[in-house]
Amino acid sequence: MNNQFLLNNLRCIPDWPIKGVNFRDVTTLFKSAECIRIITDELYDLYKDKGITKIVGIESRGFVMSSAAAIRLGAGIVLCRKPGKLPCETIQMSYAKEYGIDTIEIHKDSITEDDVILLHDDLLATGGTMKAACDLVRKFHPKKVYCNFIIELQSEFPNARDIFDDDIEVTSLL
Ligand code: PRP
Ligand code: HPA
Repeated sequence: MNNQFLLNNLRCIPDWPIKGVNFRDVTTLFKSAECIRIITDELYDLYKDKGITKIVGIESRGFVMSSAAAIRLGAGIVLCRKPGKLPCETIQMSYAKEYGIDTIEIHKDSITEDDVILLHDDLLATGGTMKAACDLVRKFHPKKVYCNFIIELQSEFPNARDIFDDDIEVTSLL
């Protein structure tokens, strides 16, 4: 019921940013107060008992619900960004995407071994972005790593979850 409401509010843009990509545009979820409430509640229910200390939001659409979930879960937020945006010392990771090569980075002092990390992004396609973010986060040796997406494109990328290590628990809302 809630998920059908989210799906009804999700906009799809054919052939964007390149021909052949059917782009799921979550900005139509983010502009709806009711969608924000549903997503925040679902993230809270999934992770309230996990002891999450920090949410790593992935640029840019991953930042939005990371913020809302962090407030509900009592966690901090770490930004995982495209290169050249973070002002202090970073570590980087490059990866192949559905439509090109990309790099992400994170501040070197953003995570400690005492942290329990929830990585969050809007969408799982090939998994390349989240895998790179997981590999970055694991360099800090946190206690545990969880991954969450609002949307998982299971029928288009049926093997995307296989690239994550077995001890990383992956969830998606849609
Ligand atoms: C999109 C999306 C995910 C990623 C998913 O971000 O928001 O981060 O691609 O694809 P993957 O699973 O194949 O890696 P994009 O690179 O378009 O960046 P943006 O959010 O800054 O627009
Ligand atoms: N939406 C948002 N990001 C994406 C998509 C999409 O459909 N495909 C690959 N990255």
